[in-house]
Amino acid sequence: MDMLHTIFLFIHVLSAVVSIGPLVTLIPITKKMEEADEKEMAGYVNSFKLAIDVVKHAGHVLVISGAILVIITGWTWKDSWIVLTLAVMFLSIVFLAKAFKPTLQTFGTSGFQKEDFIVKLRKAAWKYIILLLIMLWLMVAKPMLW
Ligand code: HEM
Repeated sequence: MDMLHTIFLFIHVLSAVVSIGPLVTLIPITKKMEEADEKEMAGYVNSFKLAIDVVKHAGHVLVISGAILVIITGWTWKDSWIVLTLAVMFLSIVFLAKAFKPTLQTFGTSGFQKEDFIVKLRKAAWKYIILLLIMLWLMVAKPMLW
């Protein structure tokens, strides 16, 4: 493996770690939210937003480094495991935009209902973790379906 390949693979795997890591911390945050008063709740909502921002930026690095890896390795855009990852990724992007933002925006408005808010955020975090783990499996196992 040449140096360039190693560097981009390292960046790619690092960005995968940073994409998944913050999401895992969101689950215990939703647990803490249950007991939180309004002031603490505002802090947790901010942490939640920050974590999602980090995931978003790391996701961009993940896609760009992935595209560079396709270009510099023998893998192609037609390989089944890459096509499947792209399909799951497309779903996740649509999903991430829709799942968290509208819920988080209700905080501080009359539409805010604490229990409902927490359940929605927790479900969204789990769904997104599962989608990322599916992509991680596709990347590591590289199933060749065609
Ligand atoms: C646009 C989407 C993506 C593309 C085009 C892409 C492309 C690639 C390519 C070509 C490799 C193989 C590099 C090599 O042979 O050395 C690779 C490896 C890897 N990718 Fe991705 N990737 C994408 C998204 C992801 C995502 C979403 C994750 C994790 C959630 C991920 C995690 C990994 C890991 C852990 C490896 C190393 C596995 C190994 O080669 O043994 N990638 N990726």
